[in-house]
Amino acid sequence: MFSTNDIRRSFLDYFAGIGHHKVPSAPLVPYNDPSLMFVNAGMVPFKNAFTGFETPPAERATSSQKCVRAGGKHNDLDNVGYTARHHTFFEMLGNFSFGDYFKEEAILNAWTLLTREWGLDPDRLLVTVYHSDDEAHDLWRKIAGLPEDRIIRIATSDNFWSMGETGPCGPCSEIFYDHGSHIAGGPPGSPDEDGDRFIEIWNLVFMQFEQAADGTRQNLPRPSIDTGMGLERIAAVLQGVHDNYDIDTFRTLIEQSVDLTGVAAEGKARASHRVIADHLRSVSFLMADGVLPSNEGRGYVLRRIMRRAMRHAHLLGTERPLMHRLVPALVGEMGQAYPELQRAQALVEEVLEREETRFRQTLDKGLRLLDDVTAAMTAGDALDGETAFKLYDTYGFPYDLTEDALRDRNIAVDRAGFDAAMARQKAAARAAWKGSGEAASGEFWFDIAEREGSTEFTGYSSVDGEGRVVALVRNGAEIETAHAGENLTIITNQTPFYAESGGQTGDTGRITTPEGLTVEVTETSKPLGRLHAHTGKILKGDIAVGDTIHLKVDAERRDAIRANHSATHLLHAALRHRLGNHVTQKGSLVAQERLRFDFSHPKPLTSDDIAAIEAEVNREIRANEIVATRLMSPDEAVEAGALALFGEKYGDEVRVLSMGRSMEGRNYSVELCGGTHVDATGDIGMFRIVAESAVSSGVRRIEALTGEAARQWLVGREEDLKTIASTLRTAPDDVKDRVAALLEERKSLERELAEARRQLALSGGGADKAATQDEDIGGVTFSGQVLHGLDPRELRGLLDETKKRIGSGIAAVAAVNDGRAALAVAVTEDLTARYDAVKLVQAGVSALGGKGGGGRPDMAQGGGPAGDRADDAIEAVRKSLRG
Ligand code: ALA
Repeated sequence: MFSTNDIRRSFLDYFAGIGHHKVPSAPLVPYNDPSLMFVNAGMVPFKNAFTGFETPPAERATSSQKCVRAGGKHNDLDNVGYTARHHTFFEMLGNFSFGDYFKEEAILNAWTLLTREWGLDPDRLLVTVYHSDDEAHDLWRKIAGLPEDRIIRIATSDNFWSMGETGPCGPCSEIFYDHGSHIAGGPPGSPDEDGDRFIEIWNLVFMQFEQAADGTRQNLPRPSIDTGMGLERIAAVLQGVHDNYDIDTFRTLIEQSVDLTGVAAEGKARASHRVIADHLRSVSFLMADGVLPSNEGRGYVLRRIMRRAMRHAHLLGTERPLMHRLVPALVGEMGQAYPELQRAQALVEEVLEREETRFRQTLDKGLRLLDDVTAAMTAGDALDGETAFKLYDTYGFPYDLTEDALRDRNIAVDRAGFDAAMARQKAAARAAWKGSGEAASGEFWFDIAEREGSTEFTGYSSVDGEGRVVALVRNGAEIETAHAGENLTIITNQTPFYAESGGQTGDTGRITTPEGLTVEVTETSKPLGRLHAHTGKILKGDIAVGDTIHLKVDAERRDAIRANHSATHLLHAALRHRLGNHVTQKGSLVAQERLRFDFSHPKPLTSDDIAAIEAEVNREIRANEIVATRLMSPDEAVEAGALALFGEKYGDEVRVLSMGRSMEGRNYSVELCGGTHVDATGDIGMFRIVAESAVSSGVRRIEALTGEAARQWLVGREEDLKTIASTLRTAPDDVKDRVAALLEERKSLERELAEARRQLALSGGGADKAATQDEDIGGVTFSGQVLHGLDPRELRGLLDETKKRIGSGIAAVAAVNDGRAALAVAVTEDLTARYDAVKLVQAGVSALGGKGGGGRPDMAQGGGPAGDRADDAIEAVRKSLRG
């Protein structure tokens, strides 16, 4: 018997054998398509290849694509569990031709695989074609030799396949398998076609058109082929069972569910086990592709699927959460074909257990409250909307659960009252915001947010994608269209652009359309903390609300920002290691060119601290550990050791970033953070602290660089060193010795110069000669001199020499060094009765801006800071002599 894994492999090998390129399944979140919630067909990842917007991976391709149908055009959620063939998650096997082969080869390949390779009985196969497609009809006759009555023409949209409201489409031909007359049902197109006897197993789409939003169709550049075969259906056929839930994969999952609950898959419980097995697959694959439960968008759909399964687990009467205990069986069945499932196993188990635990608490609490408030009610009564809203708003008890829980007792719920209570709460939030005066003119943001909901951010794992324009804003008001040359702000339903928050700067980049629009986005901000507002200028073309646009983040800039953001987390951890746990974040800026981190610490960091912190961060970078993201409640996050990041607003769920090596069961860094980060620490490249300073008392700031910016900084330093070396005429390696030698040489030259000056002064010559002319002041000989560079300790000896030379008189010398001046005055013995050297020196010292001066009547000394006024000091001595 073919296992499901064998069938998948055999399909891909067959098409690879006839020249098809094997393409791995794309993630379930269609980043290239804003009109879709999840990838819902094998062709979705190739949508732009069909329309010619992107180059296809090859002319022919084949894949086994993960699909989820739980919202939008193809939504199977509510049927799952109650039919033989509905799933929220399934795999679609497909072969694709991008303008290469067309109908004939597509039909030939399909027929050969089914009847030759897999040996299906041709008599059990029949096909449909679009009513006007004679070509397909004739090909089926020619290739398969099918009789007229087994080539059925269908005029409805059943045989015209389209991806969604817009996108590639074309007539199709479906292959049906007849499960046998023991099962009720008629062939396609007959009145009882809805029976289960004839089952569609393969859809061959002859892609020829692209549908626009207004319903008009244009030819694709070249006719192409898209086929889709549900793996679970063909597995049922090849395994000889009628029901998809009886194939090997589902049997394993359902047996496990039966084992763990102790409830057989019979009666009412049969549907519950099926819901559990099916939903386990969709929620696990969604989480493996990065969707995590939340209260909005994709995360909300995921949560709804989870809760539907959890309700069934509850119905089966399990005491403990069930879903996470089924994950190992799923990974065993499908982990080899989809390694992302293996990688995500721990995350999936953890999130499921937590969600189910919380869901049970919500159920218990909500049901108890509901019992209380409805105790006095009887059949035919209605619960007021205000109470239903309170259950929802305060206790997280969904409206439909309230309705469900009361249905048995025949009690209705006042939906209008519930809606009114919801509207009142929104109005109150708006009024509070307006009252805050934060942006009195920005009330339109509320209109947009209420009308359109929050922007979904797709940029954690992607830097480009498509979005639908939900609002355009200019000069504080909404507009409908805008044109080349105009500045504006664009809001889309989803975007890969990060909006400035939590210290991380907003993304910049380009917005384009195939019709020729180009917008340069220079800023992305986050009004109300919920909308991503792209602000920029239209360089070319026009834009209107409702347009689908392509958003492309400047990826190089984003990479630099990611590296800086992750490095900030490592720095925070290193600071706490080195300086202590009093270090907490006080602010941060994560930009493209650098990072800045403010933290509490009472004193400057030593250069040893800085070196040690820098080394530790670089060690973590080189360890190149994966950076992991998990969603937790704030309490759980704190328990896991998370450090709260400054300025974040927390909802009931937070993103927890763990990075670096694991020590004692905990990662080097664990923080709550909504920012974008590197995949592994090695992507940071390098970390360099370039400044440490004070911000205010008790708060220090570190500025640092990573990756290419750090490298350029180091190169800059080296260039400086080279310039210095060449000025010094030496090699960079010898600069240190050369500078030391130069300083030594300078010292000894200074010494030699001082000595030379002294000699010159003693000989009464040199540059200061004019000042040494002896003068006669009132009959007393006076010698005044200013000497630059003379050591003040030489003053006394110099004055003694001068006294000897003049015999009787008064001598004054000012020695100027490094801007200061020392002054000494000598009076010969015969004159000490009339003149006091101390008084004379004091007169000179005050001219030097100094104070005091002292000694004996025949010899006194002092000094002052104003070396440039040495001449004035000598003049002051002269003046004082004149009396
Ligand atoms: N895209 C086609 C389908 O999903 C094959 O049925």
